[in-house]
Amino acid sequence: MSNVLRLAIVDPNDQSREGLKSMLLGMDVVWLDAECSRYEFFSDVVEQSKPDAAIISMDGGVDRALVLMEKLRHQSPECSILALSKSTEGQLILKTIRAGAKEFLPMPVEVEELHGALERTLQAKFGGSDGKTRGCKMIAIAGATGGVGCTSVAVNIGCNLASNAENSVALVDLDLALGDADVFLDSIPDYSLVDVTENVSRLDFHLLRKSLTKHSSGLYLLPRPVQLQDLDLITPDSLRKVIGLLRASFSHVVIDLSKSFSQVDLTALELSNEIVLIVQLDLPCLRNMVRLLMSLQQMESIREKVKVVVNRVGLESGQISLKKAKETIGREVFFQIPNDYRTMVEMRNNGQPLIEQAPKAAITLAVQQLTDLLNGAEIVQSESGEKTAVDKGIANNWLNFWPGKAGAKVKTK
Ligand SMILES: Nc1ncnc2c1ncn2[C@@H]1O[C@H](COP(=O)(O)OP(=O)(O)OP(=O)(O)O)[C@@H](O)[C@H]1O
Ligand SMILES: [Mg+2]
Repeated sequence: MSNVLRLAIVDPNDQSREGLKSMLLGMDVVWLDAECSRYEFFSDVVEQSKPDAAIISMDGGVDRALVLMEKLRHQSPECSILALSKSTEGQLILKTIRAGAKEFLPMPVEVEELHGALERTLQAKFGGSDGKTRGCKMIAIAGATGGVGCTSVAVNIGCNLASNAENSVALVDLDLALGDADVFLDSIPDYSLVDVTENVSRLDFHLLRKSLTKHSSGLYLLPRPVQLQDLDLITPDSLRKVIGLLRASFSHVVIDLSKSFSQVDLTALELSNEIVLIVQLDLPCLRNMVRLLMSLQQMESIREKVKVVVNRVGLESGQISLKKAKETIGREVFFQIPNDYRTMVEMRNNGQPLIEQAPKAAITLAVQQLTDLLNGAEIVQSESGEKTAVDKGIANNWLNFWPGKAGAKVKTK
């Protein structure tokens, strides 16, 4: 459990302790080892369970809580202390920090703040030397025109990620009016983005997961609103809150954007770590791509993250050559996905991801490789520059439609 922060909590108030517990229980970065309702007993609890960090709610008796912190500082110096209080008075914060607390969080604690504090504690304790990101990776899928393949790609990236038991993955359908990710996953959701938005401040992680629809692949879906009248409820601010909650609860969040590039879409792009911009090799699509890239280039929080992915490579009619397309777009193509209409349509109609529907198809391997690359896999060029065979069939196949990357290998970290 080296990726997880082991915690003990003390809070004499049953109600706030329960609230805190349910918040913590849904977080992948923590493991709740022990809980306690009395300050007097807590140092023994810590001595026995030896947690990495202790959360001390101070409102059941500030002085006793401060004495406890002093005691822990001497008795269990390796245990980091996080303090919580309704009072944010400067003197109290000072005393708390002097007593040994590493973090002070105001009550009621916001899930994003708590998650941030725990991430910092985790970083300080274990560092990032293993190269693993303990936080959440968010991948946005946008397209240069309608029907370019965004939902197909988003759903399959989500399912690919979810197939790894170490990951917990949510897919958000942000195509608010016409989204169809639920069709691709053959699911009838009970709740939508509107329900989660309206209840975001009351949801703990258990309720959040219950509000999402779980597909057999392990992927959790947060679908678009049901009623057109509800679309206005989804604003940049409300989306920030929902994404904050999702980020605190899942290791990966995949977002299928609308094609309107609204403020809500742009907020999702801002918050994402990776942005996939899908294009097909036809004139209207490429023209849109050029316009979009010009606009996105001006947005500091977005431009570095954009990766151009060409979909349906090999489709004959109306196609422009890749060379010409690169010249037109004026930047590198990050990845190419081959054309395979039959497999893609069967996948959607059967509500099964590619890895289940057609595990050996070239398109499945391509989307798997794209997933790996977005998730931090490395490309290593062979020194000879020759097209060398790569051990795993999966990489071999991928090389066949990766012009100019002969001999490249994908190395998963
Ligand atoms: N690589 C591919 N090869 C063949 N067909 C594909 C490929 N990717 C997507 N398609 C097909 O293209 C059509 C549109 O795909 P999809 O719904 O994923 O696009 P979209 O960008 O989400 O569309 P919308 O703008 O309506 O949201 C579907 O019929 C899908 O099966
Ligand atoms: Mg779509």
